[in-house]
Amino acid sequence: MAREFTRVGVVGLGTMGAGIVEVFARNGVDVTAVEISDGALERGRATLTGSTDRAVAKGKLVEAERDALLARVDFRVGLDALHDVDLVIEAVPEHLDLKQRIFAELDRVCKPDAILATNTSSLSVTEISVATTRPNQVIGIHFFNPAPVMKLVEVVRTVVTSADVVADVEALCERLGKVDVTISDRAGFIANALLFGYLNHAVGMFEARYATREDIDAAMKLGCGLPMGPLALMDLIGLDTAYEILDTMYRRGGRDRRHAPAPLLKQMVTAGLLGRKSGRGFYTYERPGSPKVVPDEYTPLAADAALADGARAIAKVGVVGSGTMATGIIEVFAKAGYEVVSVTRGAEKSAKVCEAVKTSLNKGVVRGKLSETDRDAALGRITWSATLEHLADVDLVVEAVIEELSVKKALFASLDEICKPGVVLATTTSSLPVIDVAMATQRPADVVGLHFFNPAPIMPLVEIVQTIRTSAETSATARAVCAKLGKTGVVCGDRSGFIVNALLFPYLNDAVKMLEASYSTADDIDYAMKLGCGYPMGPFELLDVVGLDVSLAIQRELYLELREPGFAPAPLLEHLVTAGYLGRKSGRGFRDHTRR
Ligand SMILES: NC(=O)c1ccc[n+]([C@@H]2O[C@H](COP(=O)([O-])OP(=O)(O)OC[C@H]3O[C@@H](n4cnc5c(N)ncnc54)[C@H](O)[C@@H]3O)[C@@H](O)[C@H]2O)c1
Repeated sequence: MAREFTRVGVVGLGTMGAGIVEVFARNGVDVTAVEISDGALERGRATLTGSTDRAVAKGKLVEAERDALLARVDFRVGLDALHDVDLVIEAVPEHLDLKQRIFAELDRVCKPDAILATNTSSLSVTEISVATTRPNQVIGIHFFNPAPVMKLVEVVRTVVTSADVVADVEALCERLGKVDVTISDRAGFIANALLFGYLNHAVGMFEARYATREDIDAAMKLGCGLPMGPLALMDLIGLDTAYEILDTMYRRGGRDRRHAPAPLLKQMVTAGLLGRKSGRGFYTYERPGSPKVVPDEYTPLAADAALADGARAIAKVGVVGSGTMATGIIEVFAKAGYEVVSVTRGAEKSAKVCEAVKTSLNKGVVRGKLSETDRDAALGRITWSATLEHLADVDLVVEAVIEELSVKKALFASLDEICKPGVVLATTTSSLPVIDVAMATQRPADVVGLHFFNPAPIMPLVEIVQTIRTSAETSATARAVCAKLGKTGVVCGDRSGFIVNALLFPYLNDAVKMLEASYSTADDIDYAMKLGCGYPMGPFELLDVVGLDVSLAIQRELYLELREPGFAPAPLLEHLVTAGYLGRKSGRGFRDHTRR
């Protein structure tokens, strides 16, 4: 029989603590909620009532339930109020000495059989536990932000935590409607170990002015389907908390440079820019604690104003290539009203691409997304050709041929001879330096990257890659074209992986390294990222879909260009590729897909 928890204590009612109180009280558990001062207690109470009022407004809670929930919470100043609780969860700032002091005090105040839990994200639960005389009753219960919403709880067992305590806490998580993964005491556990390198990298991109905050966030939301971008997430976590987590992970996790907090973070924390809770972090909020972003001096001009900014008129577009990307891109341009000249290497290939575009447009008609008239009009705007010379009078060329530098360079040299002056020449490369193809022409200022995502008709994102030679006019034209296509164009520099792949693949590679180190299972790691961070797929699900060979190739490119030791491809990934386990396409990757 699992232990009955009738009253629990929560220490610290900040970003996490207030949410944890809500989780317990919502599930019928009485809570003693403790803060350090009257002022902090009132702030915690306001967070809880604000959150429950919002739940009522959204129809997720009725008023009587909210009142019952709030009546279960006893707000107190000082730890002495915790003398009668069965379990305490500590959620004070991420400092080891502070947590150790609190645990020594809890040990003195609480009943001898009470379980003492920490919500730490990165500190050693073991080191916290030895501040008490009952380390076998100390455990990590790591909730995710926002606690009432995120389903995951990481239960952290140290080498001395007793098996009964682990089982009791697991049963409690279930009662709270949470999914738990139980793991041992390692810096960052599962989710943060995989998340924070990515978040810090995104801050570094912003700090280096590689892309704007809006573009970095839009890229990860629209390119990967994440619930929020990395900088908005940093603001939600709290920059002081994020700084401490990174700093601890750097020191505890093998001094991986990717966890050394970006210098900008420290400056922002010192300046009091802590994220949502202080009203300003990477973004500015309506008021402290509000989720509503308001415009500030960094907010980009309205899209229309940016578009007027020197963009060239584009009416006719050439698309070179006959693969998946070219086919999708032809459809996207034709549907948006552009005249399109498709150029392939022969009539047979043109016929195939034409068929594929027709099939896709017909699907749109069947699904009610496109009228028959619009389909016919789109098809009528496309000319099929096998000769580059037909691109002599287009205003924009989008190249989507095989991902080989020599082939792309030769093509750009030909385009340079054929196309009229002032044409924008775009490459869809996902991994080659755009400057290399630009320099194959006599007009590098007119060359830009337009990185579409697959399937192009569906994915809303395009990365607009500016080289050091791309002109402002070319860039403005690319932005205007993306807007007319109904896509979000994000502008970035010409570095390996652009924004999305540079932020995504090292995280996937880290997940493989975690699996390789036997810290957790593929299933638990996938759960942790989906239920703890709201990712649409776990890393191993995604790797199997993308293809392990493709993932390895991208990771190798990133490693070669940036020479970051942490980017070295995971040996397990290399071995799986060598063994022919490439993911869904080969029937087996991290999982066996033949038996489903
Ligand atoms: N922010 C997140 O997204 C997140 C997610 C999971 C876990 N965590 C972890 O949760 C813990 C709390 O982080 P947070 O972001 O909620 O911090 P926070 O700064 O928002 O809140 C900390 C609260 O603790 C209170 N406090 C400080 N000293 C105290 C004391 N002696 N007694 C009682 N209360 C005291 C403060 O007044 C404050 O309200 C940290 O260990 C953090 O790593 C944070």
